[in-house]
Amino acid sequence: MNIILFGPPGVGKGTQGANLSKEFGIVHLAMGDLLRSAVAEKTDLGLKAKSFMDAGELVTDDLVIGLIEERIVADDAKNGFLLDGFPRNVAQAIALNEMLSKHSLSLDHVVFMDASKKALLERLTGRLTCSACGFGFHRHYSPPKIAGQCDQCASPLVQRADDTEKVISHRLEVYAEQTAPLLDFYGNEDMFCKVNAEAGMGEVYASLLVAVKG
Ligand code: AP5
Repeated sequence: MNIILFGPPGVGKGTQGANLSKEFGIVHLAMGDLLRSAVAEKTDLGLKAKSFMDAGELVTDDLVIGLIEERIVADDAKNGFLLDGFPRNVAQAIALNEMLSKHSLSLDHVVFMDASKKALLERLTGRLTCSACGFGFHRHYSPPKIAGQCDQCASPLVQRADDTEKVISHRLEVYAEQTAPLLDFYGNEDMFCKVNAEAGMGEVYASLLVAVKG
């Protein structure tokens, strides 16, 4: 099964994408995570991407399109993939359609997750991320068992560099200008559906399962 999850920053794509990909045995391709790994490893791609990410701007299309094409045809994507954070504008969506057709692949579901601005701000300003494995927590909604320490690998938890109020508000503007137009791009397709992501994590996950199981 091949799925796209899209929606505004902080709506829960990463949290729910990890659960859904485990449920269906497909690979979770989170573009933000792929880019953050490249930044941490100081690869050419990471060095080019860092300043865009820190400012809350989109990284240039050429960098992310090449990266995603390699990953959707990799061995671990044989059972399918869940794209989280890609495509993020119409040019990327067109490029994705071209690469899917080139590799005789297709999409089964495009799921749009939405929540109020108030919920997005609360989620992003309270998010904590493991500095080693990237696992996500929230100060109030999913706190770690030991404060400041990852439940999975015991490494320190940090706030993401782009989770400051100033950068969050710019990310929301970039989303409205560049990513929201994907609603028109995919909105009339049979595979498109919208999930209300305002509720708690368990309830949102149940709605997502209904959306993808049909
Ligand atoms: P990316 O990492 O993709 O950031 P994002 O889209 O802004 O999304 P987030 O990771 O902030 O939020 P999320 O929806 O995954 O929410 P999460 O599950 O963590 O991208 C970062 C940057 O990389 C971009 O700004 C850009 O520079 C670059 N980039 C990435 N893709 C690109 C592309 N295609 N093209 C160009 N540039 C690209 O949840 C948030 C918090 O809320 C967590 O703490 C979680 O525990 C909590 N939470 C989740 N669900 C709930 C719930 N239902 N109730 C309460 N709390 C909840």
